[in-house]
Order: sequence, then C-alpha cells, then structure tokens
Amino acid sequence: MPLKGDFEAWLRKIRREIHAWPELAYEEKRTATLICRELQALGLSPRFGIARTGVVVDIGNGKPRVALRADMDALPLNEETGLPFASKRPGIMHACGHDGHVAMLLGAAALLVQDPPEGGVRLIFQPAEERGAGARAIMEEGALEGISFIFGGHIDRHFKVGEIAVNEGLICAFTDSFEVIINGKGGHAAWPQEAVDSIVVGSLLVVNFQTIVSREINPAHPSVITVGKFEGGSAHNVIAEKARLEGTIRSTDPETRRRIMDGLKRVARGLAEGHRAKIKLKIKEGYPPVINHPVATQIAREAAHQVVGPKGVVSQSHPSLGGEDFAFYLQKIPGCFVRLGAAKKGLENIPAHSPKFDFDERVLPLGARFFAKVARLAIEYLKKENRFSS
Ligand code: NI
Repeated sequence: MPLKGDFEAWLRKIRREIHAWPELAYEEKRTATLICRELQALGLSPRFGIARTGVVVDIGNGKPRVALRADMDALPLNEETGLPFASKRPGIMHACGHDGHVAMLLGAAALLVQDPPEGGVRLIFQPAEERGAGARAIMEEGALEGISFIFGGHIDRHFKVGEIAVNEGLICAFTDSFEVIINGKGGHAAWPQEAVDSIVVGSLLVVNFQTIVSREINPAHPSVITVGKFEGGSAHNVIAEKARLEGTIRSTDPETRRRIMDGLKRVARGLAEGHRAKIKLKIKEGYPPVINHPVATQIAREAAHQVVGPKGVVSQSHPSLGGEDFAFYLQKIPGCFVRLGAAKKGLENIPAHSPKFDFDERVLPLGARFFAKVARLAIEYLKKENRFSS
C-alpha cells in the first residue's frame, strides 16, 4: 500500500512513468493499464475501455454519489525539457500536466480507500481532453449516471504550489475552430497579372481577422482569434494557387462568439470578392465554456481551505481563454473546476503546450488531498440536504 510508504514519492513515480510514455487522444492504453494496475493494488475494481480508453471506478457504492475527473491525454509535440523522465515517444509529450492529473486522482483514490466516506465516489479517468471531446464520449457511456456533483482541476503555472484558485461562474472560454481554403490562380512569380496569389489573400485574411477582435468586439469581453497554421505554395518563383489556414476562436459570451463568427464570414466574403479568389470558410463548434455551479464552488472552496489554508485559497482575476471539455459535464450536473498552483521555479514563463513545459511536483499530494476532501464534503452536503441523484 502506497500510504505506508512515502505518498509523495509514490505519486511522483506514477506521474513520471506516465510522462515518459505519453499517449494521444483515444490512444491512452498504456496509461489506462497503469491506472487499472494502481487501482487494483488498492483493492478496487476499475472498469476499463469506457469511451475507448477511459477508466471508471467506484469507491463504495452508497449514496449520495459524487464524481472526480482526471484527463489522460498528451499532445503532439516534441519534448525539449531535458528531464530524466522525458518522453520516450518522439512527437508526443505531456505538455499540459495531464500526467499529474492522473497521479493526483490515483492519490485521491488511495486516500478515499484508506478512510471511506459514507457515500459513493466515482473516479473518471477520461481520454481525449485536448481534442475529441472525451468528456462527452464518456458521459454518453453513462459515466455520470447517479452522480450529483462532479469536480475536476488543472495544474496551473500562474499560481504557486500551495495555492488553489476557486471561482464561481464562467472560468474557461468557448473554443471554436475554423479552416479556410483559398483558391487563387497559380502562375509565374514574375507575371502576377496572370495569376491570383492565394498567399497574399491568405495574409490579408490573417490580418483582417485580427481586426474583428480589436475593432468590432467590446474590449471588456475577452476574446481572441489565432491563426495557428498557414500552408501554401511550392517554390520561391511560383505564385501559389492554393493556401490553407487553420485557427481558433476563443470567446466568453454567446453574443461575442456570434459576432466573431459573423465577422469571419463577412471578411472572407469581402476579400474573395476584392481579390478575385475563391475562399471557403468552415467553422467548427468546439467546447462550451466551463461554468462553475455556485454550491459546488462553495464546497470546493471549503475543501481548498481545509487543504491549503485560508491564504492558499485564491481566485483567477479573469476567465482563462483556454478550453476545457470539463464543460460538457457541467452542462449536465453541477460541479466545479479549480486551478491547482504548480509554478516551477525558473519555468514561470513557460506556458502549457510548450515543449519546455514542466510543473512543480509538490502539487501532486496537495491535489490528491483536495480531491479526496472535496468528494467527502460534497457527500456530507448532499446528506444534509437529502439530495440524491436518481
Ligand atoms: Ni490540459
């Protein structure tokens, strides 16, 4: 049993093993096997293969029941941390801390098994948070049935270890994406009069898209458009016939979201007309925003208070424009998503999704204790309120 040994060392070992063997969305087989191994060692009976690679396990089967969630997937990038336990898989890296989320939830499992609450706790190890809406997929397989509250969290370098940020209401953005295909007319670099340059049209699109946020949206409503991919052309002396852009739209209210989407369409139409190109714009709706329920937020705040003390309970000053598919759970049942401070000395300016991302592992036992505590408090609250989900 890990609790007899060094709890933090056990969590670190788990995190490092997952970190060394990262897996992309819906491919988290090795990670799921590790999770099952550790849960079985705690005497639990995990169910494996939920939503392809997810793991769900119940601790106790009494009511009321609450759920805790960790995401498991890594990102398609090459690690450059130089850590001794760096990724052994070229092109794949845990650059968002999901390796830590899994370790923390296993830690919570150990704490809950050691001192079982008078109710049920369901642990959801969810695949595919980065893309593929794993939360929705695992919900469709019944992960939330009979559950009254759900809690989750994310490692965050904006806060120090020992700080937990708890906020009510909207804390993460709508995350929609788009693709633009520009069809011009290819030709010789020296005779532009005979061609329609898709690279120039694409460049104008990138610039004009930026003015939608800066000139059409109320600056008090946070939003951003990023073109993250721009492809086109084949040689320095050939005018490119075709170019392709991909990007993301982040917004925090439905009206801004609608205005941005309308703006993208209008700019694309206008530039096509103005520059003799054909422009096809496809907008794909992504994750809804994370909206923390007031009661669940109160419970999470109290749990954080008990784990990190009054000074450790902090707030995000403004919503993050990051996306988070935990939002899908919150559309169905009340819950709260928190930020677990994990800034690593010297890496405070290295964001998640960077090849150099790392976090301070001292967050692992704190996160484990927070999750165990929040589950306990939520069960106590539900028993007092006599509210059971059917
Ligand atoms: Ni993440």
